[in-house]
Amino acid sequence: MPSRHAGSAEDEALSLINFFRDGLSTRQPIEGTVARGFLKEDTEFFTGKKAGKVSANPPAVPSQAPAGPQPSGATAAPALQGPAAYPDDVEVFPIAVTKEVVTRGKERYEIFCSACHGLTGNGDGMIVRRGFRRAASFNDDRLRQAPVGHFFDAITNGWGSMPSYAAQIPTEDRWAITAYIRALQLSQQTEQKRSGAGTSGRCAGDKRRASVTRGPYNAPPNVNRVQQRALIVGAVFTVIFVVGFFLNRDQFFYSYLFAFSFWAGISIGALALLMLQHLTGGGWGLVIRRVLEAATRTLPLVLILFVPIVLGAHRIYKWTDAHTVAEHPVLTEKSKYLNLPFFTARAAIYFAIWLALALFPEPLVALAGPHC
Ligand code: HEC
Repeated sequence: MPSRHAGSAEDEALSLINFFRDGLSTRQPIEGTVARGFLKEDTEFFTGKKAGKVSANPPAVPSQAPAGPQPSGATAAPALQGPAAYPDDVEVFPIAVTKEVVTRGKERYEIFCSACHGLTGNGDGMIVRRGFRRAASFNDDRLRQAPVGHFFDAITNGWGSMPSYAAQIPTEDRWAITAYIRALQLSQQTEQKRSGAGTSGRCAGDKRRASVTRGPYNAPPNVNRVQQRALIVGAVFTVIFVVGFFLNRDQFFYSYLFAFSFWAGISIGALALLMLQHLTGGGWGLVIRRVLEAATRTLPLVLILFVPIVLGAHRIYKWTDAHTVAEHPVLTEKSKYLNLPFFTARAAIYFAIWLALALFPEPLVALAGPHC
């Protein structure tokens, strides 16, 4: 054999010798020899074809490249849909699809495929934008329903004007890429649904808006400690509160009103923010939603704490005193609105609305928008 690389080790191994009759220094492998690591027994893994169907779609011979198996019909989409369109291709992954596999597939996909098929598989890769033939989007129904073997087959043997990538991408990685394409398809599907496949964008927002979760929630353990300390503080101030009640009744109620307004403001303010978040469907509220919900859960307590205000209204509000009202024409006029029964009734209605919003958000949130 004429030397290819003069002076190399290979040169010596393959050089012409007289020992064998054919003059070759190395022997041809015996027919049927399988080199170690090259026993491709697992048909489904190595070909993506169902066992026994290997010959149905022979790998492209390099001299025929770049044309691999042709897209069926070459023009129109195949009449058959889903796995029926690719009857020989396996429908189940012959490898375990783990997170690592999909991550590896993503990396390989972005290296080998995204230039043409685009990062989301829509076929808008940079090479296509520069004039290369555009492939069908992986997010079309036909390819969403195609069996996994079809993708593996296209990478392995090429597909139409797409060349084979078997030489560059090891078998395992070809499956990893296929797994990632499936993940891409799933991710894009939700995207389409969300941005309104068949429904308006507004409706899509409402769907998200309606998804109020009320699963069981376990507070972190350190909350107990905070709760205990808060109780101690509460107990101490309750004593001062009672003492204050006996020392200066008027001041007691003024202070009570002030404190009530402060704490009620936190609960009701949280409720307002929560409802705003449900109405707009904005993602910004997700992180604070549980905190807001917790704050609104104190509303029943706020209702109970409102009772002393009604009871002490005579000390707090001048307009509850008949003599004062009679002396002031302005107050007399206002008394149609500012009188204790109406004041209490109004408060009852407000609390009913607040409590309903806080405790039964689902039906109200669902009512807020059109059903999709
Ligand atoms: C150089 C551009 C290019 C690259 C890189 C490329 N493809 Fe393709 N691919 C195409 C084109 C173009 C077609 C459509 C061929 C046709 O219809 O003739 C195609 C077709 C396919 C199909 C068949 C789609 C169908 O309609 O059934 C699959 C699956 C596929 N490619 C997967 C891949 C994967 C996976 C990779 C990465 C390993 C990849 N391709 C890399 C250009 C490319």
